[in-house]
Amino acid sequence: MKKVIAFVGSPRKDGNTATLVEEAAKGARDAGAEVKVYYLEDLQFKGCQGCTTCRQKPECEQQDDFTPIIKELSTADGIIIGSPIYMWQVSSQVKKLFDRFYPLTGADLKPRFGTKKTLMIYSQANPNADSFQAYFEHTGKMLSNLFGLNIVDTIVVPGAVTQDMAKSNPSYMVGAFTGGRNLVD
Ligand SMILES: Cc1cc2nc3c(=O)[nH]c(=O)nc-3n(C[C@H](O)[C@H](O)[C@H](O)COP(=O)(O)O)c2cc1C
Repeated sequence: MKKVIAFVGSPRKDGNTATLVEEAAKGARDAGAEVKVYYLEDLQFKGCQGCTTCRQKPECEQQDDFTPIIKELSTADGIIIGSPIYMWQVSSQVKKLFDRFYPLTGADLKPRFGTKKTLMIYSQANPNADSFQAYFEHTGKMLSNLFGLNIVDTIVVPGAVTQDMAKSNPSYMVGAFTGGRNLVD
């Protein structure tokens, strides 16, 4: 059975990011995958401490809620990452996640565990869906080059000022469900 790991990078459990990550998880389950959804705000973990242990072996010196997730990521087939846009970037929760991905890249800065299909979901108040396009591409390139997280789909919800924007818009819900399915098919 294929394994998919999903991350919600917004602290709002009823927000747009959470809604769409859960919908994508539903799609992946519908396609037969085992899916785990992590709410980053609920995990007790620090950012990377820069000890560089993981440059020699694919392990992290820190023993916290993120430690077992590194192992899960190494064998996962698909990844879902959702973030609200905070200050033109991913939320601090998601930046911390990216830094803790460091064991997934080798000393040669190439992916240690092969490639994994990845779905990105972004929610933003800015009504222009293209505003952060260059940033999304830059982030996708970083995730792919370093960690083997190959972005197969990026869902952007623009104008998401209220928490129910995604929920009340069927096209986003269908897009997320389909995006989740595509990670597995
Ligand atoms: C601290 C903070 C910073 C934000 N910065 C931006 C921003 O730079 N650009 C933008 O379009 N929206 C910004 N927003 C709005 C959120 O991205 C938007 O409300 C998003 O839909 C929230 O996602 P959620 O419903 O999943 O929590 C910001 C919101 C907060 C709380």
